[in-house]
Amino acid sequence: MITVTATPNIAFIKYWGNRNQELRLPAADSLSMTLDAPTVEVTAEFADTLTIDSFDENGNRRTLKDREIARFGKHLELVQRYLSILDARDAIRQSIAFTIHSNIPPAIGLASSAALFSGVAKAYAELLKEQGLQLSDEQISVIARLGSGSAARSVMGGFVVLKAGQGEDIASAKAIQIAPASHWPLHDIVICPSLKEKEHGSTEGHHLAHTSPHFAERLCQMPRRQQECIDAILQRDFEKLQRVAEEDARNLHLVAQTSTPPLQYLTNATHRILFEITALRESERFPVLYTMDAGPTVHLVCTDDAVKTVKEFAHAQKDCTVFETKVGNGARIKNPVMI
Ligand code: PMV
Repeated sequence: MITVTATPNIAFIKYWGNRNQELRLPAADSLSMTLDAPTVEVTAEFADTLTIDSFDENGNRRTLKDREIARFGKHLELVQRYLSILDARDAIRQSIAFTIHSNIPPAIGLASSAALFSGVAKAYAELLKEQGLQLSDEQISVIARLGSGSAARSVMGGFVVLKAGQGEDIASAKAIQIAPASHWPLHDIVICPSLKEKEHGSTEGHHLAHTSPHFAERLCQMPRRQQECIDAILQRDFEKLQRVAEEDARNLHLVAQTSTPPLQYLTNATHRILFEITALRESERFPVLYTMDAGPTVHLVCTDDAVKTVKEFAHAQKDCTVFETKVGNGARIKNPVMI
């Protein structure tokens, strides 16, 4: 039995749309910062049948929806397919029993599935290690991606790229760390206006991306944005990071809103928060950037210099739940045995 802890990530250049939906092979590269909180804990052991026991932050049992259970089944099937390419088909002979304790509200734009499937992938890797199969972080990121594309990036800490690659090979898209957490101590103050689960998950959003008239243009812009973002991070240039991350976030929501059917993740509360933070930033001139994933949640990323002001701003928002997070180290074994 093995227990790992994992965390969400926040994308500066967002993954949206697949070239292969079943294998979650992305249409373009993406880039994120792995966070240190909130955490999900995944315990896994070999078992005769696939079981998933899930608990929320208060220890209450969560009843999983049929599609959530089916997603784990599909994931296991894809993991087996990947293992057969690695000549290790027999490494998982039966099935797995998972126990999940999550401190992350699901489906609000806080990357709960990224944290979950990076934890699941790390747990698979530890079980496979017991069977004599040692996987690299990049290989673990492939396993994570098969459950949730953005989960590939949460396997590693710091600043991580998901390389889309080319072709239909199951392992052709994988994550690569471009800088560790120690490179740039950024914070992400997360403001959730609502903890109500969204109606349309990102899996559906990826599926519909191609129906937006703005998607082709998005794909044209992605290589430039990705390179600008990599440069901004390597140079620790916050202004450059702000420009490109906000451009990409706005563009993702343009694509979502113009898909058929349209996906409206942002709410009035999101727009009010964005209006207020940009006005405050203009008047007081401090380094903060905003970005939103597939939900109304606003992520305010900032440097040490600005974090006090940003936290005060976040906690002053009425009827919102706030998570104070910073750059983190990625999925890891809980309480490893020291030798
Ligand atoms: O990993 P998925 O399928 O939940 O997609 C994540 C999509 C975004 O969060 C909106 C963007 C990203 O890159 O994290």
